[in-house]
Amino acid sequence: MSDTISYKTVTPEEVNTWFEACAVSDFPSDGGLNISYQGLQIAVFNFTRRNEWFATQNLCPHKKQMILSRGMIGSDGNEPKVACPFHKKTFSLKTGENLNGDECAIATYPVKVENSKVYVGFA
Ligand code: FES
Repeated sequence: MSDTISYKTVTPEEVNTWFEACAVSDFPSDGGLNISYQGLQIAVFNFTRRNEWFATQNLCPHKKQMILSRGMIGSDGNEPKVACPFHKKTFSLKTGENLNGDECAIATYPVKVENSKVYVGFA
């Protein structure tokens, strides 16, 4: 049934639930963790080099692998991105857009950090 779960981008304005995902100290520098929220698997990234946090669906749309939290993060100019470890499809961490232009976009979610806790926004 997990294929029927759909991931949908949540904008900051749409957030009505801030889910406490993890402690900041749980995260590797410049790396991600997978968290679960109501059947969704969400990749949360601590992009230390940019001093920014991002969250996306953990599901790579290419071959439907739950893997993006273990992807390599980097920047393309000013665009933060994650590359899937399997076949290196690359997605914007800001918009979810597929930067290779050949797969569908991924959903993105707002993140905030308060009192050393990381929260992901859902609607
Ligand atoms: S499964 Fe992610 S790029 Fe192929």
